[in-house]
Amino acid sequence: MTLELKNVSKHYKKKSALNGFTYSFSSGIYALLGPNGAGKSTLMNIIAGVIDADKGSGIFLDGKSIDILGDEYRSHIGFMPQKSALMDSFSALRFMKYISGLKGLKNTDSEIGELLRKVELFDNRNEKCGGFSGGMKQRLMLAQAMLGSPDILILDEPTAGLDPRQRVIFRNMVRGYSESKTVIVSTHIVSDIEAQADCIIIMQSGKIAASGSNSALLTQYGCSELEELYMKLFGEKDDI
Ligand SMILES: Nc1ncnc2c1ncn2[C@@H]1O[C@H](COP(=O)(O)OP(=O)(O)OP(=O)(O)O)[C@@H](O)[C@H]1O
Ligand SMILES: [Mg+2]
Repeated sequence: MTLELKNVSKHYKKKSALNGFTYSFSSGIYALLGPNGAGKSTLMNIIAGVIDADKGSGIFLDGKSIDILGDEYRSHIGFMPQKSALMDSFSALRFMKYISGLKGLKNTDSEIGELLRKVELFDNRNEKCGGFSGGMKQRLMLAQAMLGSPDILILDEPTAGLDPRQRVIFRNMVRGYSESKTVIVSTHIVSDIEAQADCIIIMQSGKIAASGSNSALLTQYGCSELEELYMKLFGEKDDI
């Protein structure tokens, strides 16, 4: 599927969070990188349909406006927000079933079991989410986003708080997932991006500052590593 964003903006009163974002996503892993406040979550929330973009913004799935597609558009989306939205009193299993119902999915018992195994929460499936560690909550949020194998998976800082082993598991899950689908992932962990992104979108002040594959960006900016490129764009030498 092709997800096309044309001149997508978001203002909060006079403050601009996203400023004329234009980009076309197809299959593969797209990483959003940029400083705090660059507009990554705003962009992801808009794509996920959680918040509305300003008038004049256009989002098109295979050429059709998402305003017209409505619920059909949402059925193609899986979303893991930056802030976990778990129900503390629900068990992991109950939460997955609840999300499955919200997504209008049927007969998901075996898929839920498989996903919980993949994120290594199957043995904890009857425990309440409120008692989970930060990393366990992250993993459950990842599992719910993947439920129903959505064509477009949006993950806002999914690896924040994961231990190194879980990050590797996460990478493998996303890599296997993205072969025919679109994954849009934001992270501040540069090594995660280098390891798995097909395309990197560097954002600054609600706009695209640079985009391309890791190797293309390094060549363009004459850098040997992504971190060096990031510091070239955002690091204030005198302050560090
Ligand atoms: N509900 C809101 N009301 C007012 N301003 C907001 C709101 N949400 C976001 N903003 C502003 O929009 C800008 C972009 O925020 P956003 O959360 O999209 O950044 P981000 O790139 O995800 O940052 P981070 O790396 O910290 O997660 C920031 O200046 C932020 O203060
Ligand atoms: Mg954010």
